[in-house]
Amino acid sequence: MKKCVLVTGGAGYIGSHTAVELIEAGYDVVIADNLSNSEFEAVEGVRRITGVEVPFEKIDCNDGTALDDLFARYTIDAVIHFAAFKAVGESVAEPLKYYSNNVGSFVTLLAAMRTAGVANVVFSSSATVYGQPETLPATEQTPRQPATSPYGATKQICEDILRDSVAAYDGLRGIALRYFNPIGAHPSALIGELPRGVPANIVPFITQTAVGIRSELSIFGDDYSTPDGTALRDYINVVDLARAHVVAVGRMLAGGQRTSYEVFNIGTGRPVSVMELVKGFESVNGVKVPYRIIGRRPGDVEAMWADTTLATTELGWHSERTLPETLRSAWAWQLSLKK
Ligand code: UD1
Repeated sequence: MKKCVLVTGGAGYIGSHTAVELIEAGYDVVIADNLSNSEFEAVEGVRRITGVEVPFEKIDCNDGTALDDLFARYTIDAVIHFAAFKAVGESVAEPLKYYSNNVGSFVTLLAAMRTAGVANVVFSSSATVYGQPETLPATEQTPRQPATSPYGATKQICEDILRDSVAAYDGLRGIALRYFNPIGAHPSALIGELPRGVPANIVPFITQTAVGIRSELSIFGDDYSTPDGTALRDYINVVDLARAHVVAVGRMLAGGQRTSYEVFNIGTGRPVSVMELVKGFESVNGVKVPYRIIGRRPGDVEAMWADTTLATTELGWHSERTLPETLRSAWAWQLSLKK
């Protein structure tokens, strides 16, 4: 019988891509999302790509009664928990909103899973938990640094909540995936990143500048100790990232974990500078991205990229899509929005 995965935040950027990859890998999927920072069109996009009328439940994961009801109506084998806020700057301005939503919803979800006897959960974590490590690339053993934002703190706290819950509650299994910088869109251009307002992340800002919605991109600092002075990141294709979730769920369901709580870096292992990203985007898409170099953005780290050895050896996962291919997909998605 097909296994069924509940995808919370499944109308969001990474959640919608993961729903597609799960369905294409043979899973049944239920999407739960409160649509507070996402659009129902993403669910329609998932349905169009897969040809499957994926069930959609408009619920908030802070609502334990709604979760209990959902678990009573579907037989769920595993949960992937994406539902969370993710704007670093906003989290500094409104920490309670972040702690309440990101931490509260995970606690509520785990409690509902316990009640319903659902054993497997993948948590959507972030490379932000490492801060600026002393040595790079970051491995899963690299010590976590004190969080530089409430957003980052919620990722650390939720990892700890999962670790402690797995240790305490018999039968519960968990995997935390630490994402580096997810970019790009599905090759169909039917789903992609849909930022509300001014994008905080670089690729949507680049595509909106190239299409004329923004007049120029601000590059935050060219005085870092990096080859071209701009900051280094590990940009991972969102479909590759989505596939990592499929592999993680499969590992748990097959009883293949080494320990009941595991953590994996999900990146490419390759550092790319902001300037390389901008120039690469211009070159593969044949468009100009007007930019201006301004000062550093507070809270930014100089360089961050992943050691992906563990994901490769243990999950058998590695990134496959190239940066040019990924930047083309981001542009195709932006152009699809113009219509
Ligand atoms: C940040 C968070 C990360 C979070 C992610 C999702 C940190 C250290 N990182 O990643 O945990 O998961 O957001 O929201 O908290 N840049 C520009 N101009 C722009 C925008 C960005 O030059 O207009 C630069 C940044 O300075 C950075 C790079 O582009 O060097 C990537 O920025 P961004 O896309 O915002 O991701 P991170 O800050 O790496």
